[in-house]
Amino acid sequence: MVLERVSTGIPKLDRILGGGFIRGKTYLITGETGVGKTILTLQFLLEGLRNGERVAYVSLDERVQGVLDGALTLGWDLWSYYRMGLLYPFEIRIFSEDLRKYGKSSRAYIDTIIKMTNGGHVSRIVLDPISAMAFGALEEFAVREYIREIILFLEEKIGATTVLTCDIPSGSTRLSRFGYEEFLSSGVIVLGLRNVGGRLVRTLMVRKMRWSPADMTVYTFEIMSKRGIVMGPPLSALESGQQPFSVQQEQTEEGYPDEFDVRPP
Ligand SMILES: Nc1ncnc2c1ncn2[C@@H]1O[C@H](COP(=O)(O)OP(=O)(O)O)[C@@H](O)[C@H]1O
Ligand SMILES: [Mg+2]
Repeated sequence: MVLERVSTGIPKLDRILGGGFIRGKTYLITGETGVGKTILTLQFLLEGLRNGERVAYVSLDERVQGVLDGALTLGWDLWSYYRMGLLYPFEIRIFSEDLRKYGKSSRAYIDTIIKMTNGGHVSRIVLDPISAMAFGALEEFAVREYIREIILFLEEKIGATTVLTCDIPSGSTRLSRFGYEEFLSSGVIVLGLRNVGGRLVRTLMVRKMRWSPADMTVYTFEIMSKRGIVMGPPLSALESGQQPFSVQQEQTEEGYPDEFDVRPP
C-alpha cells in the first residue's frame, strides 16, 4: 500500500520526511517558546490554502486575530483566505476544571471542531498549542487519555492531516510538555536554538517518523519574509566552521459555551 503524502510547505522538510506528512495522520511539533512552531504550522496551512484546500487553525492560548496579524509581518495574508471561506481560524479554551467537570468530553471537543469547520470538510487542521489544553491539570493520566482520544477522533471523524504543537519548558530535554504526546502521534519534529560561535542558530530535527526511513540529522533553518521557514545545512556543517462572524451567535446556537469557550476572530 502506498501512503499518500501531503506537503508541509517546506520542500526540504518534505524530503527529510520521505515525501511529506502521511495524509490523515497526526504530527507533533515541539520546542521552547519562540522557536517557530506556530510559523511552521501556518506554513503547512498556507500550502493547502494555495492549493485551494479548506483548512482549520485552532488556537488554544493566543488570540487568533493576533496570530493572523502576526502572519502579515511575514507577508502572509491569511485574512484573505479567511474571507474566501477557505481558512477557519478560531479559539477553543479548555481549562483543567472543565476536564474534571465534564470528564471525557473529548468527543464534544471534536464536535466543536466539526461544527466550526462547516461540517469538518477540511484537509488540514492545526491545534496550537496542545499543551495549553492540559495547563494546570492535576491528573496527567486524564490529560493523556484526553489527548489520545482527540487524536483518534480527529483521524477517524475528520480524516484531515493534523499538526499539534507543544511548548516545552526552557532547557528541558523532554520532547513534549508531559512526555507522552510524542507516543500518540505519527511523527515528532523538534525545533530549537543552538549557540554556534556566539550566534543563535535555529535547528530542526525529525525525532520520530512512522513508516519513513529516519534521518536524524539536526538541520538549521531561518525564518524569512514571504518564504517562512527556509531549511539550511546540517548543524554539524555550521559547527565545523564552515475575525468577523458573530461570536455570540456561534456560541449560543448549540450550547457549546457550556463546555468550551469558542471564539472565531
Ligand atoms: N516577520 C518575521 N520575520 C522573521 N522572523 C520572524 C518574523 N516574525 C516572527 N519571527 C520569528 O519567529 C519566532 C516566533 O515564532 P513562533 O512560530 O511564534 O514561535 P513558537 O510558536 O514556537 O513560540 C520569533 O523568534 C521571531 O524571531
Ligand atoms: Mg506558538
